[in-house]
Amino acid sequence: MANPFRDLFFPGGRPDELVEALVPRRTFADVVLPPATRRALDNALVQIRKHDVIFGDWGLGERHATGLALAFNFAGPPGTGKTICAEAVAHALGKRLLVVRYAELESQWAGATAKNVSAVFASAREQDAVLFFDEADAIAGRRFTSVDQGYQREANAVVNVLLRELEEFPGVVIFATNLAANFDPAFERRIRTHILFEMPGAEERERIWRAQIHARKTPLAEDVDFQALANLYPASGGDIKNAVLKGAQMAIAEPGPDRGKQIAQRHFAEAMQEVVAAKRVMEQSLFTDPAMAAMAGAGALATSDGVRDEVDALATRLVEVEDAVLPVSESLRRVEASQAETRRRLDEVHAALAAQRESTEESLRQTGIVLGGRLRTLFWVSGSALAAAVAALAAALW
Ligand SMILES: Nc1ncnc2c1ncn2[C@@H]1O[C@H](COP(=O)(O)OP(=O)(O)O)[C@@H](O)[C@H]1O
Ligand SMILES: [Mg+2]
Repeated sequence: MANPFRDLFFPGGRPDELVEALVPRRTFADVVLPPATRRALDNALVQIRKHDVIFGDWGLGERHATGLALAFNFAGPPGTGKTICAEAVAHALGKRLLVVRYAELESQWAGATAKNVSAVFASAREQDAVLFFDEADAIAGRRFTSVDQGYQREANAVVNVLLRELEEFPGVVIFATNLAANFDPAFERRIRTHILFEMPGAEERERIWRAQIHARKTPLAEDVDFQALANLYPASGGDIKNAVLKGAQMAIAEPGPDRGKQIAQRHFAEAMQEVVAAKRVMEQSLFTDPAMAAMAGAGALATSDGVRDEVDALATRLVEVEDAVLPVSESLRRVEASQAETRRRLDEVHAALAAQRESTEESLRQTGIVLGGRLRTLFWVSGSALAAAVAALAAALW
């Protein structure tokens, strides 16, 4: 999950957390594949080895800096062995497998996810490792043709960076996907070979059942019949693995001392039924469940694809709404800030006016005092002059 606190401190993602470095242990001996898939993988290995000779030993890699990456896409349903085969390819090449961790790669900060993609390629280059993008449709999806929203720009930037890195990366990159149809066409062009992982046939299933147990140590009852299990259940390798582990748990949970306990046919059969049922529950959506569909009203039996589309559309809408709300709340914040600023200015003008009025009154008062004094002097002077004149007149008359 995108982690806002981690992102705050490492907006570009912690380089050591973006990938999981794996020393491959599983080899092609651990995997049972339909002949066509096996042939395609053998061809891929030959291409890789010859590529190393041409571009490494023959020095052409130093002359031609782009178009070097050997990108493969393993496409097929879950549990068909894509992940083990990526490991087996790395093992065959004597290299480490760097498994990209999407949860760490995705950052909520604009531009940081694309930077993380570059960091992942740099890390693989440094360690001369095989780079593995599992469930790659999460990252190599089609680009948006119109980009009026932030998330569309971001998604397109990530695919663009991925394409550029693929051009320049001198090693092996493996993508795995259940939904190759979602790939961006430009991305698809840069993939050298698509290798199809199909569901195993009955004969392969029988061999997968056997490959999942320990030939010497796993205690099997007399009645165990892998051919019958293989014929009865058209399951994937992943399902068979889960059924074997579940069957063993059922056998050990039975009463009595552990020594002498064995896994019997009924354990494997029951376990496989549980695995198949659990898968059905996982595949079932709210609206394909008859009870829920009845509640939702007649005719509401949407396919799980339909529901997924609806959820996708809702998620897109949610991002659009978020994108629309963000600028509004930003302008609201600005309006509030400018209101506060205006209020502050008004207060200042008020205070300045009050101060000015006070000083005007004061100077008026001062002027009044001075004027009063002058008038008094004037009256006194003119009063005295008048008195003198009257006295002089009176003296003359007498
Ligand atoms: N073709 C196979 N041969 C042997 N084991 C298989 C095969 N496919 C799947 N398995 C078992 O199922 C597990 C899950 O397979 P995985 O490679 O993760 O499938 P995918 O990556 O295609 O979803 C493996 O670890 C392995 O034990
Ligand atoms: Mg896988």
